[in-house]
Amino acid sequence: MDDHKTLLNLREFESAAAARLPKMVFDYYAGGAGDEVTARTAHDAWDAISIRYRVLRDVSQRNLAVKVLADDLAFPVMVAPMAFQRLAHPDGELATARAAAAIGAGMILSTMATTSIEDVRAAAKGPLWFQLYIYRDREASRALVERAERAGCTALVLTVDSPLLGRRERDVRNGFHVGPEFTVPNLTGDPRAALAASAAHGNPHGRNESALARFVEDHWDASISWSDVAWLRSITKLPVLVKGVVRGDDAALALDHGAAGVIVSNHGGRQLDTSIDSARALREVADAMGGRGALLADGGIRRGTDVIKALACGANAVLLGRPVLWGLAVGGAEGVQHVLQLLRDEFDLALALTGCRSAAELTRDLLSF
Ligand code: GLV
Repeated sequence: MDDHKTLLNLREFESAAAARLPKMVFDYYAGGAGDEVTARTAHDAWDAISIRYRVLRDVSQRNLAVKVLADDLAFPVMVAPMAFQRLAHPDGELATARAAAAIGAGMILSTMATTSIEDVRAAAKGPLWFQLYIYRDREASRALVERAERAGCTALVLTVDSPLLGRRERDVRNGFHVGPEFTVPNLTGDPRAALAASAAHGNPHGRNESALARFVEDHWDASISWSDVAWLRSITKLPVLVKGVVRGDDAALALDHGAAGVIVSNHGGRQLDTSIDSARALREVADAMGGRGALLADGGIRRGTDVIKALACGANAVLLGRPVLWGLAVGGAEGVQHVLQLLRDEFDLALALTGCRSAAELTRDLLSF
C-alpha cells in the first residue's frame, strides 16, 4: 500500500482512489446532488481569487500553528466529518484519526462513522470534535452528546444543511447501501436499529434508491430550527459550531443562539446543487461575525493557496474532506498523512511566497476578487 508515495498533489490522490475503490463507494464519496454543479465549481471558486502577495518581508521563519476554540492545530486544517470511512479502508476512522494526530491537524468525527467515538478517541490524542444531526428521537441525540462529552471530544459540530438528504443520482443509480459487515456504532436507539436493518438486508429498497436517503428521511428531524441550536447548547458544556451556513445573517443568528462558531459549507455540493461556493460566501459570513466566534470553511480545498485565501477572507482554519478519503483508500493512515503533509507543505510555501510568517498576517488586502 505504498503506491501513494509517488503522488504529488491532492488531485492525483483522487485518480488513484478512483482506480482502487468499488464504483458504488467512489461514487458515494465523489458525488454531489443534482447535476453536481456545486461539487464541480467549489475549487474553481478559490482559483478565481488572486493573491496580491507582498515582497521583501523576511519570511525565513514561519509559524503555521493556530488555535481554534480551545484546540491547538499545527497548521490550520481539520479533517471534515465524513461518513462510513471503513468503506474506503479497513482501518477507517482509526487510520484517519492517527494520521491527523501525527501531523497535528484536528479531526471532526461523523455521527455516521463506522467506528465508535470511544475507539477513535482511544486511537489518537489529537484535537477531536464530534459532528451530529438532530434526530426526531431527541433522547438519541442527547445520548450521543453525552457520549461525545464523556469520550473527551472538545466541541460539537451541528450540521444544519441537511433537513433531508440531497438527491445524489449516483447513489440512486448504484443503489448505495452500507453492507452488513459494517456497523455505525455512534447511532443509538431507533436510528441505530433502522440503519442496522438496512445494512442487514443490503439495500432493502432495491436498486434505484439510496438506502441512506431513506434512512435520513425516516430519522433526521426536518423540523429543526434555530431553537434547536439553543436546545443543543442547553444540554452540553461543549462549544457548539453550526456547520452548513453560507449567509451572513444566518451566521449572526447562529451566534445569537449560542453557537461558539460557524462552518461555512455547502456539504461538498451534496445537498443543494447550485448553492453558493464557500469561497464566495466566506467574506460575507466573516463580516457578519466580526471576529466573534470561531470561523471555519470547507469545500474545494485542494491546494495550500486555497488555505491562504480562506484565512485571508477571515477563517481561522479550513476543513479538508474528500482528499482525506482518497488518501485513506490509497494508503490507509499513511495515505491520509501523506495528503495532509502535502497540504501542509503547500500552505507553508504559499505563506512564504505571499510574504507572511504566520496565519495572523493573512489579511484580506492580500486578495483580489
Ligand atoms: C452524509 O452526510 C453525506 O453527505 O453522505
